[in-house]
Amino acid sequence: MKAAGLAKPMRAVILASGDGSNAEAIVQWARVNPDRLAVAGILTDNPQAGVIQRAMRLEVSCRCIPFPEKNALIRDFAARKRIHEDQLNEVIAAWGGEWLLLAGYMRILSRDFLSQFIVTAGGSYRVVNIHPSLLPEFPGKDALRRAFDAGAERSGITVHLVDEGVDTGPIIVQESFPRLPGDDFAAFAARGRQVEHRLYGQALAKLTGPEHHQGAL
Ligand code: GRF
Repeated sequence: MKAAGLAKPMRAVILASGDGSNAEAIVQWARVNPDRLAVAGILTDNPQAGVIQRAMRLEVSCRCIPFPEKNALIRDFAARKRIHEDQLNEVIAAWGGEWLLLAGYMRILSRDFLSQFIVTAGGSYRVVNIHPSLLPEFPGKDALRRAFDAGAERSGITVHLVDEGVDTGPIIVQESFPRLPGDDFAAFAARGRQVEHRLYGQALAKLTGPEHHQGAL
């Protein structure tokens, strides 16, 4: 049965650079909610990424497009970034990806790249990101580690729409979790992981729900 108000499921490509546990959680959510989300494939920039094995196990299409190395012809970072994003775009178009779901993708997407995606009614792109902090606290890399080192009594996970900033953009869902007495960083991070895997699904439910019509947040 289709969700009321939705003509077809959101067709999305997942971008991931690492282990891919969030990518797997998204794929599993899509399997339970085929009327809401279709995962067209997974793209990674990292040939060593665990997400590649996960994609094979899950039988989801996966392509690895490494960031071009500096060479005598293309030294400039911006030029290499353009080439990389053009390559990503080619696959996303071939797969018919309408939305991007970032799940531990470790590169900042350029304004030109983002502008390929039709903006939502709220003025953001059709691109979703998960970040391990209670944004706007601790944007950027190693957010959980920095919260832990700062002695924070709680941290959290945020799923948000992407705009041109780093870890900015309208928040879809956010959930906090505590740092318990005696926690080392591993215990604290593991608690965050559990929240992450649940929260991406919650965000997708909200985003594809009849009240939002895929992005009118
Ligand atoms: C997660 O902590 C996510 O919040 C962050 O990168 C990590 C990716 O983990 N953006 P995984 O590759 O999904 O396991």
